[in-house]
Amino acid sequence: MPHILYGGDYNPDQWPERVWDEDVHLMQEAGVNLVSLAIFSWSRLEPSEGKYDFAWLDGIMDKLHAGGISVDLATATASPPPWMSHQHPEMLPVTIDGVRLWHGARQHYCPSSPVYRQGARRLAEQMAARYAEHPALAMWHVGNEFGCHVPYCYCDVSAEAFRNWLQERHGSIEDLNRAWGTDFWSQRYSNWDEVLPPRRTPTWPNPSQQLDFMRFSSDELLACYEIEREALRERTPDVPITTNFMRFFKPLDYWKWAEREDVVSDDVYQDPSDPEAGMRSAMAGDLMRSLGRGRPWVLMEQTTSRVNWRDVNVAKAPGQMRLWSYQAVARGADGVMFFQWRQSRAGAEKFHSAMVPHGPVMSSPVWKEAKQLGQELRGLDAVCGSRVRADAAIVLDWESWWALELPSKPSIRVRQEAQLEDYYRPLFGANIVADFARPQDDLSGYRLVLVPNLYLVGDEGAASLTTYVKGGGNVVIGFFSGMVDPFEHIHLGGYPAPFADMLGLRIADWLPLADGEQLEVVFADGGKGRCDLWSELIEPSGAEVLASFAGSRVDRRPAVTRHKFGSGSAYYVGTRLDQQSMARLLLTICAEAGVEPALEAPAGVEAVRRSFGHRSILFLLNHRHSTVDVPLSQAGTNLVDGSQVHAGLFKVGPHGAAVIREGW
Ligand code: GAL
Repeated sequence: MPHILYGGDYNPDQWPERVWDEDVHLMQEAGVNLVSLAIFSWSRLEPSEGKYDFAWLDGIMDKLHAGGISVDLATATASPPPWMSHQHPEMLPVTIDGVRLWHGARQHYCPSSPVYRQGARRLAEQMAARYAEHPALAMWHVGNEFGCHVPYCYCDVSAEAFRNWLQERHGSIEDLNRAWGTDFWSQRYSNWDEVLPPRRTPTWPNPSQQLDFMRFSSDELLACYEIEREALRERTPDVPITTNFMRFFKPLDYWKWAEREDVVSDDVYQDPSDPEAGMRSAMAGDLMRSLGRGRPWVLMEQTTSRVNWRDVNVAKAPGQMRLWSYQAVARGADGVMFFQWRQSRAGAEKFHSAMVPHGPVMSSPVWKEAKQLGQELRGLDAVCGSRVRADAAIVLDWESWWALELPSKPSIRVRQEAQLEDYYRPLFGANIVADFARPQDDLSGYRLVLVPNLYLVGDEGAASLTTYVKGGGNVVIGFFSGMVDPFEHIHLGGYPAPFADMLGLRIADWLPLADGEQLEVVFADGGKGRCDLWSELIEPSGAEVLASFAGSRVDRRPAVTRHKFGSGSAYYVGTRLDQQSMARLLLTICAEAGVEPALEAPAGVEAVRRSFGHRSILFLLNHRHSTVDVPLSQAGTNLVDGSQVHAGLFKVGPHGAAVIREGW
């Protein structure tokens, strides 16, 4: 697209037709060029089985086109109509405790249900056939937030599908017994019919079974997406297809999903009361860019101000919506969209902010900010298609995440997202951009690879990281990595077996720290810090000690190490360092590895570059409530308002943003 996409979810079916003209008029005023249409319209589009009614949708598609607004058209399959579950109650999902979830909200379907899948495929086919040639059609929006409410279903239909999936993966029942280690607790299966999803059990179900069920569940929802994608692809091969992601959403392996999307899109609902909200949405943006392998992505949903689904829904501060929108663009988005265009009058989301509030519209602060942003984004055409370059990568593997957080571990306080944040935070604070990557990816383009808690690793992932370091790469591995193989069986041979030679150490034992317990850490240069959560007995076999624990059973034992391996370096962090110590450590490693910040800026100012070859665009985002002076070394043009920018100190107001085309 030659312009930054701007708009939101549009639900005209919730409004009388007379509102539609006003909608189009207001959209034009706000600079809207794309709306996501018909996401929850199945019950209107197919009011009874096999009877379709597209008249109203035809009308609004035409109106939008006449108004110069393109459509990200949904397949409308996110919420099946009541007639479907009424006629086929077996298509409803069942929870781990055997409770059936009824219609009356949304997403009430079992992902494996043939009834749901056929109904969804038929509707996608109808939509594709009807709108293939419609000039407003710009993109397909399959379903909506797959797995958001029902990522797992434990019904009998799912049980059958799970067994089929397992046969495909493991082959014979004996292979399954081996893979799941069923000699433990007398779990040996003698035939496939005995195998179930991990329904509620007296205590922990088999961890390998749970892990396979998570893989299966992600794959089942992906199959639902694929069924619709194929229907669309066949009829509209040139129309890009997306489905909206939900940041770091644990149940779906987004690496697999993103490979099947033309455009990655994401929904981000920061909590304005979270002091680290800005960091968290930057991290989500970096993930989306990485999932799309660097391609521009779309911020598909955010709110103009409040959501309605937290206990207390704090409003965004004036300017914060605009700031976080620019942040998405800075991190590689070529589209900024909202849930939703017009605030609903009825239903469960009527207190959720929108671009057009209940009224009065013109004097409303959210409308004014949305309109200002839409007008400003028109000046950002030069940004479209440019890329964000990162010299550092953070490894994230969904299967490892799932396995890490299964119960019965040395400490269940070790959580994947928090660990990722511990590594991301110092980079964000220093304006160093990182991509996310899978362990088995080609990492050779990065100067530094951070690996927080890669608990599960297969041969391919371990070999890839080892080859990377041998070839001159720098890696930082966090504690409790390399523990299990893809079956969730321990890698024997001394922890962390797959990485022990590379790291030049062995772990003799883990000593998790009690809640609230802290230890001191002393760095080789005498600097001191603190740590919590985890400690362990590290036995170096070639690694150099960069920091040691002080106190407790690990007194004077290594806490952080470095090992020269091949032409590279492998660092190991055997605890959770306090934020300052972690920043000191990682920023020293960054400097040694030649990973540089986009800009030295005052604290609270985010600086990121997008570029085409040597032509660059600098984004400055002030997350503070006060004006800041940012030292610039180059002159340029601020695309937000067209003003000239000179080298030297540049002022950015509270929650302000500048997009500076540097020297061209
Ligand atoms: C998203 C969803 C939207 C809307 C929004 C409210 O999860 O895709 O349909 O419900 O949340 O924040």
